[in-house]
Amino acid sequence: MTIHAVLIGEHDDPAGWREALAAELPGLELTLHVWPQLSEDAERISIALAWKPPPGALAGLPGLRLIQCLGMGVDALFDDPELPTAVPIARLHDPDLIAQMSEYVCWAVLHHHRKIDAYLESQRRRRWRPLPATDAGTCRVGILGLGAIGSDCAVKLRGLGFPVSGWSRSAKTLDGVDCYHGRQGLNAMLPGCRVLVCLLPLTPDTAGIVDAELLARLPRGALLVNIARGGHVVDLDLLAALESGGLGGAVLDVCSEEPLRIHHPYWDHPRVKLTPHIAGLTRPTAAAGQIATNIRRVMAGQPPVHQVSRERGY
Ligand code: OXD
Repeated sequence: MTIHAVLIGEHDDPAGWREALAAELPGLELTLHVWPQLSEDAERISIALAWKPPPGALAGLPGLRLIQCLGMGVDALFDDPELPTAVPIARLHDPDLIAQMSEYVCWAVLHHHRKIDAYLESQRRRRWRPLPATDAGTCRVGILGLGAIGSDCAVKLRGLGFPVSGWSRSAKTLDGVDCYHGRQGLNAMLPGCRVLVCLLPLTPDTAGIVDAELLARLPRGALLVNIARGGHVVDLDLLAALESGGLGGAVLDVCSEEPLRIHHPYWDHPRVKLTPHIAGLTRPTAAAGQIATNIRRVMAGQPPVHQVSRERGY
């Protein structure tokens, strides 16, 4: 039997996906199509491998048995008003993506903590100017979201000597992390954090959570790192906090519009570091094993692993 799958939305490397999936599915024939080049095959597609699919595209696949998101965040799927309601959605839970995101966070925290911007400025001016030593033990990092990525970041930051606080919607405990939950918990956590890292899923409850009120609770000169979704941040509030000096800087891997429009103030703001949503990039060889498991499971009538809850939105 041939299983028909489709790569849909923003993605690259169809040849890499074909090769990686074939290696993980010995004994199964998988034909991987690339949307929208489906012609008469649309009816035969049972698996969609999706990243930011165009609205309505999944609704045009009547035989779907699995929507497998190619990232860990699934918010873009729920933006589709025609998202099929009866098809299970699975997200990736990929150790490779988690490791990449933790690397990015550690880089951002270390760059800030070791005052690398000041040294780069000294270099530009040809000035040999050592600054006083800094103590990681006094630079508390707050993490919004204690899922797989948040927990991994916490362990790695602790290993580098940074005290870590973490906030989640409902109560959690994590070894070595001061855990907070609920709105009151958030308000209590923020004043102690010299760096705040956003790793939350984007849902109606978390959209716009990084607003003027939240930023005002951070200590003066704190750093914001957002590698979750641009929709978590109220851009005008962030720019105002940077202008006033209340916030010392922002490292943004995600924006409320991607790609960011050419005249957006983030591009050349002296205290914003911007990267094009690359903190974690899905690699076919790393993710194919989990996707192959899900293909086998749904073809055998079982639910996929890491199935998304439509009520929670993640
Ligand atoms: C993801 C991402 O959701 O990289 O995996 O943004």
